[in-house]
Amino acid sequence: TKRVAILLSGGGSNMVRLVESMGQGHPARPVLVMSNDPNAGGLARAREMGVPVASVDHKPFSKDRAAFEAVLIEHLEAAQPDILCLAGFMRILTGDFIRHFEGRMLNIHPSLLPKYKGLHTHERAIAAGDKEAGCSVHEVTAELDGGPILGQARVPVLEEDTAETLAARVLKQEHRLYPEALRRFAAGDRSRFEL
Ligand code: GAR
Repeated sequence: TKRVAILLSGGGSNMVRLVESMGQGHPARPVLVMSNDPNAGGLARAREMGVPVASVDHKPFSKDRAAFEAVLIEHLEAAQPDILCLAGFMRILTGDFIRHFEGRMLNIHPSLLPKYKGLHTHERAIAAGDKEAGCSVHEVTAELDGGPILGQARVPVLEEDTAETLAARVLKQEHRLYPEALRRFAAGDRSRFEL
């Protein structure tokens, strides 16, 4: 089975769904959950599920992204991941880091890429008057949120939506989409799908 490491910064609801999905007969298994925030809720949830965790606080490295990433890579290499999943990891990664894991790194992004790369995706979709929103799982390349799309799921945008209500609707789909995308990717299937 493929060894999967997961990077997160927050509550880790996507990480929980990924770990839960990797049961018996699955082509992958979780070997490490790591955060740039030692207090991230996702670390405690991973620990509860019996997954090894690590954290590298980015703050002492504020002036040196390369040094921060070198420590990340040290932890990751010790776990020997075949696949690296970004799941709400909110630090920009350098080209060097991305090249290191090229071809084996996935990300989930809360928009229908190529629309709304970067932050505040739901605010922007509402402000634009979009009738639909969604989420994308893509391969990570040097272009921020710009790598090949593996899968997407759509939701309607409702008249009364706020960024929060829309985010909650999209997050439910993220929880379906990411496990499916990981399962396909781990099995060697990189064809694009819609949920
Ligand atoms: C998710 O909505 C994910 O798509 C988003 O952060 C949230 C993390 O939630 N990621 C990004 O915005 C990446 N730029 P979680 O910690 O509960 O999985």
